[in-house]
Amino acid sequence: MNDERFTLITGAGQGLGKALAQACAKEHFNLLLLALPGEKLKTFTRSLQNDYGVKTDYLEIDLTEPQSAGRIYHWVHDHHYVLNRIINNAGIGSVGSFTSHDAAFYDKQLDLNIKAVVLLTHYFIEELAEEPDARILNISSLASFFTMPYKAVYASSKGFIYQFSRALRMEYLNTPLRISVACPGPITTNRHVIQRINDQGRISKFMVLSPEKTARLCLRGMLKGKAFIIPGFPNKFLYWMDKLLPQYIKIKFVASRLRTNPPS
Ligand SMILES: NC(=O)c1ccc[n+]([C@@H]2O[C@H](COP(=O)([O-])OP(=O)(O)OC[C@H]3O[C@@H](n4cnc5c(N)ncnc54)[C@H](OP(=O)(O)O)[C@@H]3O)[C@@H](O)[C@H]2O)c1
Repeated sequence: MNDERFTLITGAGQGLGKALAQACAKEHFNLLLLALPGEKLKTFTRSLQNDYGVKTDYLEIDLTEPQSAGRIYHWVHDHHYVLNRIINNAGIGSVGSFTSHDAAFYDKQLDLNIKAVVLLTHYFIEELAEEPDARILNISSLASFFTMPYKAVYASSKGFIYQFSRALRMEYLNTPLRISVACPGPITTNRHVIQRINDQGRISKFMVLSPEKTARLCLRGMLKGKAFIIPGFPNKFLYWMDKLLPQYIKIKFVASRLRTNPPS
């Protein structure tokens, strides 16, 4: 029997997913990395192998394509890889009024942020539930806790991931599998996000973390089997503030911060 186990990470070509892959390699986890087609993963997986002596492989795949979850499942099995962890990280953000993005954009955003997570999890969860110390980490967002005008679809998609993860965790508590959901605040991952952080002013800048620090905190929480992870003190503070303030004040405040942000 193959006693090697692998951690599968989606969206590992850049940003938080890449930092999570690096943090996992430091822990000597073997890795299967997924991202969109391109040159990134080939060189990245090779560098992880050289630097940390872990086994790696990669699959270039568009997770919004129909059957992508099934293709990943068959790729894993055809190569006789056995998973004990999945990190569902890939996701696209957006800001702007509802109609500043077209229907095709939302179609893709919902496919990636919601459908890909549900279907990939569905394919692998029964196998994971039989692995000792198995983990699923779903990357949601601090936005999942708030009603967010001008980020209505993104924040709602992350709210789905939060609820889905907490519910599924309960269904599997009588197995070794622990399902965690991470709800990071702003992370300096790509130029669009950095622009949004700058546009959103002081509060965002106060909450911001690097991808590396966020990845470390998420990984630590996942390994401890925590139900949910909010990386960084300022983000935890905001989470608790949310419990205290009346809803109408929070919605107005969020709308006033985001209304003038250029759509992206
Ligand atoms: N950045 C933040 O401030 C922030 C805050 C809270 C939560 N999050 C969440 O953290 C996660 C990662 O965000 P990020 O900022 O690191 O994003 P990012 O820098 O844009 O990276 C996204 C990754 O997902 C991959 N990806 C995008 N579309 C894909 C598709 N259709 N099929 C397969 N892979 C696809 C990209 O592949 P390529 O490398 O090939 O392009 C990339 O590796 C997301 O779920 C996001 O919602 C981010």
